[in-house]
Amino acid sequence: MTSLTKKKLAGKVAIVTGGASGIGEATARLFVAHGARMIIIADIQDHLGQQVATSIGSQNCTYMRCDVTDEDQVKALVQSTVENYGQLDIMFSNAGILSKSDQTVLDLDFQQFDRLMAINLRGTVACVKHAARAMVDSGVRGSIVCTASVAASRGALRRTDYAMSKHAVLGLVRSTSKQLGVHGIRVNCVSPNGVATPMTCQAHEKSVEEVEEIYEAGRILKGAVLRAGNVADAVLFLASDDSELITGHDLAVDGGFQDR
Ligand SMILES: NC(=O)c1ccc[n+]([C@@H]2O[C@H](COP(=O)([O-])OP(=O)(O)OC[C@H]3O[C@@H](n4cnc5c(N)ncnc54)[C@H](O)[C@@H]3O)[C@@H](O)[C@H]2O)c1
Repeated sequence: MTSLTKKKLAGKVAIVTGGASGIGEATARLFVAHGARMIIIADIQDHLGQQVATSIGSQNCTYMRCDVTDEDQVKALVQSTVENYGQLDIMFSNAGILSKSDQTVLDLDFQQFDRLMAINLRGTVACVKHAARAMVDSGVRGSIVCTASVAASRGALRRTDYAMSKHAVLGLVRSTSKQLGVHGIRVNCVSPNGVATPMTCQAHEKSVEEVEEIYEAGRILKGAVLRAGNVADAVLFLASDDSELITGHDLAVDGGFQDR
């Protein structure tokens, strides 16, 4: 195989959290297309997660329920992956939500704040922690990729909790990449802007086409629609040896998003 046609993840075992939908689903599909031996989709949407795993094919993909807010469930997810498939090469920590209300500081609802932080931040930390432990224990020079956001590096007029959680993910990636480099483990994140997924369509209460139109207006690049597959391409790059000397990096996948 030439380097142009070679499969980038041949033989690899990966966990994709939030893999039942949107960016996670697209990434799980791309990982398998690139030769991954086994993808474990971890989510709380059991029916959807199982459907996605079945449609990808049970030889290369399986579903496991895991609520990332519960550290024990994350630990069990990683442990069972290593027990059943021998190793963990890639952790794509991607599960995330938006709060229902705008969450401006004047009207901040702490119940929603706590739930969002438990998933977007605490869940991501648990995934990085247990994936890194498994990789260190088995001597795997693994790749950990988190989903941050363009909201990780700028303030926002609303969604204060979301921006805070993603800023913290960036801090996690930068710190843990320094701590884990000695073990040959890389930690990076992707930062998308405006992909029409169930998360964003529900937040806007609009169709996929309408949401795509809203987001396109804020980008420098015109005439191209940012889709989950574009983010998956960036995750594949960070997960594979194509990025073997890249760690602690925040890769924006945003079509040149402009603050307005
Ligand atoms: N869509 C965008 O425009 C956009 C932009 C920047 C960042 N992101 C981030 O991308 C990631 C994926 O979002 P998406 O747009 O694909 O949305 P999505 O709603 O399609 O997918 C998110 C998945 O996470 C799962 N999930 C939620 N809570 C969970 C929990 N406690 N444990 C396990 N799984 C859980 C959901 O069930 C869902 O399948 C999120 O972290 C989101 O913040 C999305």
